[in-house]
Amino acid sequence: MHETGQKIATGTAPGKVILFGEHAVVYGRPAIAVPVAEVQARAEVRLGEPGQGVILDARDLGMRVRLSEAAPDDALAVIVSKTLAHLEIPPQPDLTITVESTVPIARGLGSGAAVSTAVVRSLARYFARHLTARGVSDLVYEAEKLYHGNPSGIDNTVIAFGKPVYFIRGRALEIFWVRAPFTLAIADTGIVSQTKDVVADVRRAYEENLGKYEYLFDQIGEIAALGRAAIETGNLTELGGLMNRNHALLQAVGVSCPELDRMAQAAMEGGALGAKLSGAGRGGNLVSLVTPESRGRVEMFLRMAGAKRVIITEVS
Ligand code: PMV
Repeated sequence: MHETGQKIATGTAPGKVILFGEHAVVYGRPAIAVPVAEVQARAEVRLGEPGQGVILDARDLGMRVRLSEAAPDDALAVIVSKTLAHLEIPPQPDLTITVESTVPIARGLGSGAAVSTAVVRSLARYFARHLTARGVSDLVYEAEKLYHGNPSGIDNTVIAFGKPVYFIRGRALEIFWVRAPFTLAIADTGIVSQTKDVVADVRRAYEENLGKYEYLFDQIGEIAALGRAAIETGNLTELGGLMNRNHALLQAVGVSCPELDRMAQAAMEGGALGAKLSGAGRGGNLVSLVTPESRGRVEMFLRMAGAKRVIITEVS
């Protein structure tokens, strides 16, 4: 007898926020990213009707489609196909894969990588196969290319490993020690920003003015290295100052916007130790370093400056 719908496996993954080094990381400089457990993607795999093949059901996106009929550049379909091939599953198993996510889309919180990671984990679990974090990250990178064009790989790395990472493109990942846990307020501008477009604009500007951009990326890279040292020694005042400097450099790169700048100023007026845009920029999120004393006030100031939502997360 066919046990339609009975066998179920789930996989989850957190969102992420980039603390230092966005954009410069595409050009080989170091960056730091941390997972954000307060937002999550979840995938569920269950046995389907005999002969149905693979059905993808992404409720948040209003998408329900057969894998065999999905567009070739559909990132969800690509990650499912690549994972099934990697697990050496014979073609067209009868499965329904349901995806849900509370990670906001196109806001720099890694929604694409989170959904892909949850899907890879759920499929591996369904077929009782073990994948290392590195194996998951490499598969997710394949789908990331569809979202981002030429991604540095930082999103899939931090989300698959689920730990703060010091990341340099093409090099072995470094997981480092957080000496004193610290708290971030992640404030959403409400402005949707497509990473692919912003990265392409930066590429054009870079090609027109190599000297200026190499200098800016060097400065950002140095800040990421200093940021790591500040986290390892638990120097939060230093950490905040470095975030402010990184934000100023991202303004010079040309990826901030008035809404982000206004929120950064408000966070500092509210008592944050530092604030910077996070991710591609031109919208998306602002990340601020807060203390238990300043947290409530910073959150209020951010909302008054236009934040649509504020997520508080602890890094440890
Ligand atoms: O918008 P996000 O969080 O996906 O961040 C993109 C980060 C960039 O450095 C701008 C691009 C990349 O591939 O690293």
